[in-house]
Amino acid sequence: MRSAVALVALAVLAGCSKPPPYKLDMPMKEIMGHVVDPAADMIWTASGYEITEAGERELFPTTEEGWLAVENGATIVAESANLLMLPGRAVDDGEWMQLAARMADEAMVAKAAAVAKDKDKLFAAGGALYQSCVACHDKYIPK
Ligand code: HEC
Repeated sequence: MRSAVALVALAVLAGCSKPPPYKLDMPMKEIMGHVVDPAADMIWTASGYEITEAGERELFPTTEEGWLAVENGATIVAESANLLMLPGRAVDDGEWMQLAARMADEAMVAKAAAVAKDKDKLFAAGGALYQSCVACHDKYIPK
């Protein structure tokens, strides 16, 4: 009992020793593979053109639900940037933050394009989003 009291006192004195209420156990690989990548795919699979034997086919949404799915994906990507920036998960305080913020910004452009149902803008935003992924991977995934 006495040691418990002492421990609590120590924790209070240390101030910052209290663990955060959010969990940081999810590995980066899981966040990428199961949150960021599937969400980005909701944009990319509905954006651009596919060349087949029958000719060129547009991938852009043709229904309300289709555009909403793109908007959903873009919103998930944008917000998941915050997951990457969580204290204790962020790899550093500088370039990592900038690259995560860049991903969020590009995703927000894609979201706006989906809301406007603007195919050209969505296509460009999808490309810029992809570049933002590559920029971080180039820097932070060891070759
Ligand atoms: C701020 C940095 C950062 C950004 C931005 C980023 N990633 Fe990653 N990503 C990583 C790191 C670091 C890894 C390596 C994780 C590991 O293997 O430990 C990774 C790995 C991955 C993987 C491999 C997962 C696996 O199962 O091996 C995929 C897929 C991926 N990212 C997709 C994306 C997509 C799509 C985007 C953009 C929409 C993106 N990432 C943006 C840092 C980033």
